[in-house]
Amino acid sequence: MRTTSAIPVARRVGGFNYAIRNIVAEARKVEASGRPVRYLNIGDPIIFGFETPPHMVEAVARAMRDGRNGYVPSAGIPAARESVARELSGRGMPVSADRVIITSGTSEGIELALTALVDAGDEVLIPAPTYPLYTAVLAKIGARAVFYRTDHRRGWLPDPDELRRLVTRATRALVVIDPNNPTGATYPDEIRRALIDLADHHNIPLLADEVYGDLAYSGPIAPMASLHPDAPVISFSSVSKAYLAPGWRAGWMAVGRTERLDEVLAGIKKLADGRLCSPGPMQYAVSAALDGDRSHEATFRAALRERAQVTTTRLNAIEGMSVVAPAAAFYAMPKVELPDGATDEEYVLGLLRATGVLCVYGSGFGAAPQDGFFRVVFLAPPPELSTIYDEVARFTGEFLARR
Ligand SMILES: Cc1ncc(COP(=O)(O)O)c(C=O)c1O
Repeated sequence: MRTTSAIPVARRVGGFNYAIRNIVAEARKVEASGRPVRYLNIGDPIIFGFETPPHMVEAVARAMRDGRNGYVPSAGIPAARESVARELSGRGMPVSADRVIITSGTSEGIELALTALVDAGDEVLIPAPTYPLYTAVLAKIGARAVFYRTDHRRGWLPDPDELRRLVTRATRALVVIDPNNPTGATYPDEIRRALIDLADHHNIPLLADEVYGDLAYSGPIAPMASLHPDAPVISFSSVSKAYLAPGWRAGWMAVGRTERLDEVLAGIKKLADGRLCSPGPMQYAVSAALDGDRSHEATFRAALRERAQVTTTRLNAIEGMSVVAPAAAFYAMPKVELPDGATDEEYVLGLLRATGVLCVYGSGFGAAPQDGFFRVVFLAPPPELSTIYDEVARFTGEFLARR
């Protein structure tokens, strides 16, 4: 019998949420009503006029022109793997090229590592608030995200004592995002050391998301594994942020030198075989980025520092709002003192509809909806940020008075 009822999707889709892009549907409705939208929801420097370094563009274009358009080895082209190994070793994480895998951005590395490490029902320690890819991938695997708090009253730092209490026999990985998205925090060495010691002591792989490592305003931060090269650490990064090429989907992961991770490395390589390879020509950007001219980085960091300052000063001046000054990257996580019963999503959607400014509500990153957090991407030029913050101030005053 023929039926035309809606075809169901798998249950796992219900648990897979990525607020940074999901919220765009609301913005499109606002645009359709005639109000232009300023997209401060996604951390893409290219949208705001920052440019990919020309020598990286040339390396990729040359690869294509030279006919490097076929499949490449699933772990990546040797030159890119060697550049990553040299870069990390030079910065204190001794690792050989055969422990490096070239991936479609940090994102694919994270997904491959979690898939290789975690079974349904297992637990993974995730910061709250978090970059939402982690919870989304765990939902797909059917594993449990166990949140450890980072506290805005303590500069968004985690508490190693709380983390120790959260470790159980089902814990399969500890995720550390430093520098952090969405908070813009960087962790001092004593916290980093405590986290790495915990991973070492409990034999839990530490997944170090270091995609913003070069974007601390005070200068590049050493990879976490440099504090303890024999701890079970897997480091992730890409050309997306510090090297201004997010659309190329070129990234890498480096599996720490300890033999404890040998089987995990083999598992990751096995999974990587199944997706053939990450895009070949883009892999030529990796050596260009890591071995070539990096003068753009200092300029980019200075631009970010200036924008962070405008953001902190302007948002902290708004009655009922506070924000911790970011120390890296291009995100800040302000807090509005919401009246009883209001949620962060209500505030953010209200802001979007009234002003066309699109941010992401804190609960999209795992914050409690009533806590009133939202994330701002501050890549726009300072004069534009200033206009945006005028509107945020006006709307916030109205929102809080109305309630
Ligand atoms: C903390 C964090 N990890 C990973 C990613 C994904 O980056 P990529 O473009 O390298 O996949 C992002 C992107 O915003 C991020 O903020």
